[in-house]
Amino acid sequence: MEKPYVAGHSTEEQKRLLTQAAVYDHKTRPFLNGLLHPGMTVLEIGCGVGSATQIIAGILASNGFLTALDQDKRAIAYTKARTLSNGYDRVDFICDDIFNLEPNLKFDFIYGRAVLHHINNLPSILSKLKNHLKPRGILAFEEPVMDNFPDNVPNQKLYYKLLKAYCALGDKLSMSSRVGQELHSIFVELGLSITSLSAYYPVLMSTEEKKIINDGLAMLKPQLIDNNLLDVSDIAKMQEKLTQLATDKNTCLFYPLFYQIAGCLN
Ligand SMILES: C[S@@+](CC[C@H](N)C(=O)[O-])C[C@H]1O[C@@H](n2cnc3c(N)ncnc32)[C@H](O)[C@@H]1O
Repeated sequence: MEKPYVAGHSTEEQKRLLTQAAVYDHKTRPFLNGLLHPGMTVLEIGCGVGSATQIIAGILASNGFLTALDQDKRAIAYTKARTLSNGYDRVDFICDDIFNLEPNLKFDFIYGRAVLHHINNLPSILSKLKNHLKPRGILAFEEPVMDNFPDNVPNQKLYYKLLKAYCALGDKLSMSSRVGQELHSIFVELGLSITSLSAYYPVLMSTEEKKIINDGLAMLKPQLIDNNLLDVSDIAKMQEKLTQLATDKNTCLFYPLFYQIAGCLN
């Protein structure tokens, strides 16, 4: 089941993920603040560059324990250094595929952001994670629906074409591009009680934030071309338009719909 993260783990991708994380963090912080309690044991899956990790470690502070997991060793090294430099010492790290997590490890709270859409067998991973919960434990995720965006924003037409191509690429790579909207029914099928559910369109406002669209495109360009989803001239047109939009101070860009969901073991 192991497969490499589609956008790779270059320094450029780490930088893009940090900017993207800062956009999500505004909503992640209140979401997690409402769910986490001091003393909890927490597992974060797919921690990446560790922005949500810092939020969780900060909430748990001196009471509780966080295990941050990612399959990529550069992501883990980066997040470890960041966590230590922030003075959080109640955190440990696992560098492995989530499917390899030892069955006897149990947590009060299991969380992931923008990770499930990279995993192809959702019911199986969620059922595995449910088995890692302690009694009354909580599963919580923040995940996108890659082809759901506001349809009346004229300056985004070309960008929407790109998002549709990402979704098609996700289908070809057996990724779960629409995972956000699927989570509710999977949680219910697993017998979890939904305790929190909301969705929003993240907005990219600064030039730095809007630039992550073009950076993501640069990262995925070879795969989009190899899979015949966009050709070189489509991509060149998109890159030009996206550069214009990024520097236009009067324009913001909408990211795809982002679900926040939590469910509790009865
Ligand atoms: C888009 S990044 C999101 C990172 C972080 N959660 C955030 O919000 O910034 C997805 C991360 O999930 C990790 N990942 C994907 N599939 C995984 C798996 N099966 N097991 C462990 N980590 C995985 C990748 O290595 C990558 O670091």
